[in-house]
Amino acid sequence: MNKTVNLDWGKLGFSYIKTDFRYVSYWKDGKWDDGKLVEDNMVTISEGSTALHYGQQCFEGLKAYRTKDGKIQLFRPDQNAKRMNSSCRRLMMPEIPEEKFIDACIQVVKANEHFVPPYGTGASLYLRPYVIGIGDNLGVKPAPEYLFSVFCCPVGPYFKGGMQPVNFTVSDYDRAAPYGTGGVKVGGNYAASLLPHEQAVKRGFADCIYLDPATHTKIEEVGAANFFGITKDNKFVTPKSPSILPSITKYSLMHIAKEYLGMEVEERDVYIDKLDEFVEAGACGTAAVITPIGGIEYKGKLHVFYSQTEVGPITKKLYNTLVAIQLGDEKAPEGWIVEVK
Ligand SMILES: Cc1ncc(COP(=O)(O)O)c(C=O)c1O
Repeated sequence: MNKTVNLDWGKLGFSYIKTDFRYVSYWKDGKWDDGKLVEDNMVTISEGSTALHYGQQCFEGLKAYRTKDGKIQLFRPDQNAKRMNSSCRRLMMPEIPEEKFIDACIQVVKANEHFVPPYGTGASLYLRPYVIGIGDNLGVKPAPEYLFSVFCCPVGPYFKGGMQPVNFTVSDYDRAAPYGTGGVKVGGNYAASLLPHEQAVKRGFADCIYLDPATHTKIEEVGAANFFGITKDNKFVTPKSPSILPSITKYSLMHIAKEYLGMEVEERDVYIDKLDEFVEAGACGTAAVITPIGGIEYKGKLHVFYSQTEVGPITKKLYNTLVAIQLGDEKAPEGWIVEVK
């Protein structure tokens, strides 16, 4: 049966839309069950669940894309599986076998195929896998049971305007501690970011930039995205720190910059008072794709990179190549694309 949905694909933002099916699998007595698709989008769990009280939970975000010839493909789901397992290890939650993670994503996409936006609309199907500690519990300790679930929503651009430069402001708050959980994708990091985000938005910025928590001199993250800058001598530079979430988009762009655009690539310290070294800058992530950074406000001054209205030429090339690979218009490096058949 060919189902259809009545959505204005070109106008989608980044918000929740209930789709038809999600995947659930439970861990109990040392093992995951086989998992299945369900239609209910409500999660019923014990009031003592560690996910509710102690933040024992993690999540992922990846996308399914419709190609020109109507196929559907996932972008690097193995990398999300690996990152989710590193989050699980950090929070003492059971890991998900990589094949189970990818199979769950494929099942969800297939079951919700009619929600995968058509090619050429700029929209895609966002998948949200998560693991939460559940079961009866009271003290601070790992949960006795876990839920692994994957749901999906069709989405458009994360930042309003899509591929339009936006401004960011440097936050006085930290999103992570030096030996904390910044390098894994756990809910507590995001709870801590809500207030600085709100304050930045109220002041007219798209989001805030977080500096390294120990010295507050180096760029770490751009909201829920990684930072990159293009130097005057055409190098792709991105910050390196254990408290940055290792962005799959960022590592993909590093490969694209080197192998497709012939650029030099550097992962190293990026000092907030040395922004002059960059002629272009961007925020990158699954949701943000590449969002060009118009300017960064720091200590009351706005540092503008390429332009506040125009997208720089290298940022444009990086974006076009990344999106072409995701949409199947450009040959992908080995193993990057998983077709949903
Ligand atoms: C804090 C943070 N940094 C960076 C990213 C970008 O990572 P990715 O490219 O894997 O989506 C995300 C989104 O997952 C994020 O939440």
